[in-house]
Amino acid sequence: MSPAAKKRAESAAARAENLRNRIDEANYRYYVLDDPSITDAEFDALLRELVELEKERPQLRTPDSPTQRVGAVPSERFTPYQHARPMLSLANAVSEDEVRAFDERARKLAGSAVAYVCELKIDGLAIALDYRNGSLERGGTRGDGRVGEDVTANLRTINTIPLRLLSFEKLRTTMGAPNDLLEVRGEVYLRKSDFERLNAGREREGLPVFANPRNAASGGVRQLDPALTAQRRLSFFAYQLVDDVAGLRTQWESLRYLAELGFPVNPNVARAATVDEVLAYCRQWEERRDELDYEIDGVVIKVDDLALQERLGVVARDPRWAIAFKFKPREARTKLIGIVVTVGRTGTLNPNAVLEPVKIGGVTVKSATLHNIDYIRSNDIRIGDTVLVTRAGDVIPRVVGPVLTERTGRERVFTMPDVCPVCGSDVDHPPGEAISRCTNAACPAQVYERLRHFASRGAMDIEGLGDVMAQQLTELGLVGDIAGIYALDAEQLAEVPRTGSKSIENLLRNIEQSKRRGLARLLYGLGIRFVGSQTAQILADDFGTIEAIADASSDELQRSEGIGPEVAGSVTLFFKQPSNLEMIERLRAAGVDTTAPKRARAAAGKLAGKTLVLTGTLPSLSREEATALILAAGGKVTGSVSKKTDYVVVGDEPGNKRAKAEQLGIALLDEAALRDLTR
Ligand code: IVH
Repeated sequence: MSPAAKKRAESAAARAENLRNRIDEANYRYYVLDDPSITDAEFDALLRELVELEKERPQLRTPDSPTQRVGAVPSERFTPYQHARPMLSLANAVSEDEVRAFDERARKLAGSAVAYVCELKIDGLAIALDYRNGSLERGGTRGDGRVGEDVTANLRTINTIPLRLLSFEKLRTTMGAPNDLLEVRGEVYLRKSDFERLNAGREREGLPVFANPRNAASGGVRQLDPALTAQRRLSFFAYQLVDDVAGLRTQWESLRYLAELGFPVNPNVARAATVDEVLAYCRQWEERRDELDYEIDGVVIKVDDLALQERLGVVARDPRWAIAFKFKPREARTKLIGIVVTVGRTGTLNPNAVLEPVKIGGVTVKSATLHNIDYIRSNDIRIGDTVLVTRAGDVIPRVVGPVLTERTGRERVFTMPDVCPVCGSDVDHPPGEAISRCTNAACPAQVYERLRHFASRGAMDIEGLGDVMAQQLTELGLVGDIAGIYALDAEQLAEVPRTGSKSIENLLRNIEQSKRRGLARLLYGLGIRFVGSQTAQILADDFGTIEAIADASSDELQRSEGIGPEVAGSVTLFFKQPSNLEMIERLRAAGVDTTAPKRARAAAGKLAGKTLVLTGTLPSLSREEATALILAAGGKVTGSVSKKTDYVVVGDEPGNKRAKAEQLGIALLDEAALRDLTR
């Protein structure tokens, strides 16, 4: 190598290292601390440069490079992963008395008072990670506790699992030095929000849905193709440092140390000096579990002092230094009395379980979703079955499956009706699809759902046209489609029972005012499949008029940010239907504004350039509605609070986002204040 070439190679190596450090740091700030330090575009630019550099000089491509998270080739099967130290399970405590008994025994064996660390018991799957000289070398599942499966390639795709320990070099010289070989254990899980998104997508594609986030996480870790694992967007919390690290004396210090190494550590951990404090923590989190964006099924109580842990040791397979306090199950058995089919906005037939009322986690449940016919078939759910029902957080109750041992033989297999239960028209069951649809676009059930959606706050916001009015208007045949609203007059409205002249006057005025909501809200109100308020806003901004959107090809639509083939296909399909075009013509003729202010004007809204986060339940706006209002005022909505957040909109039972906002000194808004800012 010539001296010049050598120099170039050296500087390329230095540049690669510099890029890797900056990307790792940005990744950590974004995913683990939830406090981004650079923009997405800056991040992409760094990653792209590193990819290019590694392509030119493959010898620079290290296994712990951030470019190596995805892209490993699928494997045929997993190789065994031998645990250096057995991965233990925990004994359960199902009552406060059992926790007290655990404490008493620990105190007796210790011969002194015992302090604890309380951690949330994350409902996912346990994994082990091995780091050699600070780089992730291998990772495995628990398996039977002695041998698990080597799922390294899959674990690499999880953004919060560091490929390189963050402060490895620094910690070597300051706190207890990490060993050359360091094993960390923790829980892989799926956020509730990611779970809902995953299932919604699967439902659209006619794939079987997952019963709970844990199953989806555990299936995700066991994919043979890491690209599929990556799609699930799994998350991770570290909770155990397996090897002794000089200088660390307590579990509490270990957790802090794990955080220093760049691992995500659950923020809701607490130290407890007495068993009463432990129990207070357990009660508090059993109460507050719905505030979290991940499922927990209990609390893990650990003796804080590591030397004492060692002394207490293990009996059979359970350590005597830790116990799992299990929350009351939010699962119950009950009878499936029947299945009723409702018709959605787009004509989909949705099977719903009618249940013998049963209390689950303090709430009486008498109906639950059954998703679609595939779900019913693949789980072999029959009418008359005793079924297992779960209610998980803000997720709607769902029937998990039948209790087969309770079968009597008198249960009936359910079939989807061939005619619409509402209008009697033919039902289309496209082969290979899980979804059945009523073929009549004028079906009152569909019209009703569409009207309701069109008039809702995030859409055209027509006060006085709520559920009841929408139902009466469709039942009386006064409105046949959305545009029909604008043809209503006082005489017709007088036919609606219990509607006085004052409310007729108000409703007509509100209908009139709704004509000026603009393209984004109109587009959202049309209820086109996959077009939520965010997508509607983007299309309105980019295209400006409804004709421009109607005339756009799928490719043209896909040039807009975040519009993929699925959304584009749905939009073009909508505007291909002559009946829809004719309806839009009538909307326009009635004077409904079908244009959007130019981007520049939208950007001058009261919330232009502002980032907002929503938390808790607002008194009268749904999440979707609040989002639509914010977008229309030029603002942006994100999922988590960071220094870049301008406002946090707080409703009832806010999550820890409120606390975080207060900590960072971010302005809080209630619904009234939000309405003021978006008017
Ligand atoms: S400690 C010996 N801490 O619960 C210590 N486990 O049966 C064992 N889990 O297999 C684990 N959150 O999958 C620990 N903060 C936490 C945990 C936790 C969830 C799971 C883990 C383990 C099971 C205990």
